[in-house]
Amino acid sequence: MKAVLCPRYCGPDDLEIRDIPDPVTGPGEVVVRVRAAALNFFDTLIIAGKYQTKPAFPFSPAAEFAGEVESVGEGVTTLRPGDRVAANIGYGAAREKVAVAADRLVCVPDGLDLERAAGLIVTYGTTLYALRDRAQLRAGETLAVLGAAGGVGVAAVEIGKLLGARVIACASSAEKLAFAQQHGADVAINYADEDLKDALRRVTGGQGPDVIYDPVGGRATESALRAIAWGGRFLVVGFAAGDIPKLPLNLVLLKGCDVRGVFWGAWTQRDRAGDRANTEQILAWCAQGKLRAHVHRTFALDEIAQALHTLADRKAMGKVILRV
Ligand SMILES: NC(=O)c1ccc[n+]([C@@H]2O[C@H](COP(=O)([O-])OP(=O)(O)OC[C@H]3O[C@@H](n4cnc5c(N)ncnc54)[C@H](OP(=O)(O)O)[C@@H]3O)[C@@H](O)[C@H]2O)c1
Repeated sequence: MKAVLCPRYCGPDDLEIRDIPDPVTGPGEVVVRVRAAALNFFDTLIIAGKYQTKPAFPFSPAAEFAGEVESVGEGVTTLRPGDRVAANIGYGAAREKVAVAADRLVCVPDGLDLERAAGLIVTYGTTLYALRDRAQLRAGETLAVLGAAGGVGVAAVEIGKLLGARVIACASSAEKLAFAQQHGADVAINYADEDLKDALRRVTGGQGPDVIYDPVGGRATESALRAIAWGGRFLVVGFAAGDIPKLPLNLVLLKGCDVRGVFWGAWTQRDRAGDRANTEQILAWCAQGKLRAHVHRTFALDEIAQALHTLADRKAMGKVILRV
């Protein structure tokens, strides 16, 4: 089978496509014929050795995939060859076949195509956990989303609306903001043109947002925190801008607010049942048309470098998918 391999820490252009032996099922495992694998911003980091997960070489990037069950191992009773399934495995999905523990797979509902299903679990999973489990976002509250057209960003816009919030999309271009508004955002702020703190105060009548969802980091973080409402919850999701900001703690005191870390991957290991329930909820919402799971562009497996550059160059709106 064909696999994208990262032979050493490198950039997107140094990844290799190689033929490697097919995987075989162990007890409790399933071999899946991958049809689509989704890329996330962290794939640009994991191949460069700049991410918290450091797999042994050679490894395949891409955390999540969707495909069809090809064979099942001893003891697997819940799945059969041909079943449509999806999973997040952290890394290793940019290849034609994967062997996965059966209990990590979820079934893809009828009516949801495998390309969209492949890109749902990480971004929407992170976001449902962040907004509902970490922030306890309530209907009627105001949610500001930074990087609102990116993978997790547009997921936060859509889930924020589903949970009944007023959503303020913050992004760096008019095109990205129009995209976020097509996905339900009520208000748009271009932080390339306007000071984020002033703009967030302006669009909330001086009150500030109750919840801020920040996958961007860099300068945007402190600016946004300065505008948060009394008793607000600031969600630390990621640092796509590169710099990990340091916050003046007097702001947290003065705002009576909480800064809450979101480490979805670690939570999925600690609460398997909660993670499965959230993932099934997301797939159901998507099959019902309540979430759009927009695919920015689908690339062939051997175009992975181009696909990763789209993320690294800040061009993606929604998900970047590999057709396998
Ligand atoms: N905490 C968790 O459990 C968890 C889970 C998944 C992902 N994440 C993190 O969330 C972040 C976003 O991931 P994603 O897959 O949604 O990424 P993405 O689709 O590439 O979106 C990232 C957004 O960040 C903004 N950005 C600002 N400066 C950037 C730069 N120099 N390069 C790229 N983007 C930049 C861009 O929006 P503008 O152009 O509008 O500013 C972009 O749309 C990453 O840091 C990732 O590691 C965290």
